[in-house]
Amino acid sequence: MTTKLEEKEMTTATTYKNLRTEVTGATAVVTLNRPQVLNALNTELMTELADALQNFDRDEQVRVIILTGGERAFAAGADIKEMADESTVSMMLRDNLAIWDKIRFIKKPIIAAISGFALGGGCELAMMCDMIIASETAQFGQPEINIGVIPGAGGTQRLTRVFGKYRAMEIILSGRPFSAKEACELGLVNRVVPVEVLMDEAHALAAEIAKKSPLAVRLAKEAVLKTYEMTLNEGLQFERKSFYMLFDSKDQKEGMKAFLEKRPANFTGR
Ligand code: HXC
Repeated sequence: MTTKLEEKEMTTATTYKNLRTEVTGATAVVTLNRPQVLNALNTELMTELADALQNFDRDEQVRVIILTGGERAFAAGADIKEMADESTVSMMLRDNLAIWDKIRFIKKPIIAAISGFALGGGCELAMMCDMIIASETAQFGQPEINIGVIPGAGGTQRLTRVFGKYRAMEIILSGRPFSAKEACELGLVNRVVPVEVLMDEAHALAAEIAKKSPLAVRLAKEAVLKTYEMTLNEGLQFERKSFYMLFDSKDQKEGMKAFLEKRPANFTGR
């Protein structure tokens, strides 16, 4: 049962063919919705997903985004039917993977809430998110090797950075799926929860982050991601500049004043 306040806070955003979107308070939820093919990621779905995420990135009401799928599948990979007859040249000319870059540049934190299959492009999409909460039924993997290709949306890079060379090599070269428990032990997943509470856990984490200064959250996300792109020295310099930069924000004044006055801070993102 929703309270009056919750009803007032709930708004429904743009309608898409392959997604459902909903905003509750400061959290937007994007649900992949092509269940008949286990949420296989075709061009239309990916275009809609990039559009939805970019819209929520611009929407000041939204502070955190949750990306989820169905109970049986988060996503079973890129749409094999769509790719089966492509050639090198047609793949290069269409350059479908350019859509994925738009997701990479979303500034707000994205929490992936994963149940069921997260395979191939589905696993790669999860890894593009900033935090991953998995249900006990989640099954990850990079099975591209079984169909004569390799991961193409970051799998060889992101999985290796998390798992290390030897484990990543086994997963990618054998194509064997791995459980949520294994993913959690190896550091790919923040936590594993029963499927019934998956969305509650994701919402609780989102609500926790949504209370912080959106400016600080944005710069913190950017700084953490720089770890993958910069030397330690460059990363430390980036972090320091971002830290200094926040001292020109109202949120820094409010945050520190609230601490000294022993009251909760009210961050406005200014
Ligand atoms: C297109 C897919 C699909 C996919 C499943 N389906 N995965 N269609 N692309 N990736 C479709 C099936 O064809 C079937 O449609 C329906 O979804 C249900 O799937 P089943 O196979 O019948 O279900 P099940 O027996 O439970 O097996 C589930 C599964 C299997 C283990 C997940 O579907 C599977 O192995 N899927 C492919 C996984 C994969 O190889 N992913 C990597 C793709 S390449 P019908 O019409 O028969 O009912 C990739 C590259 C990424 O992701 C690179 C950059 C984006």
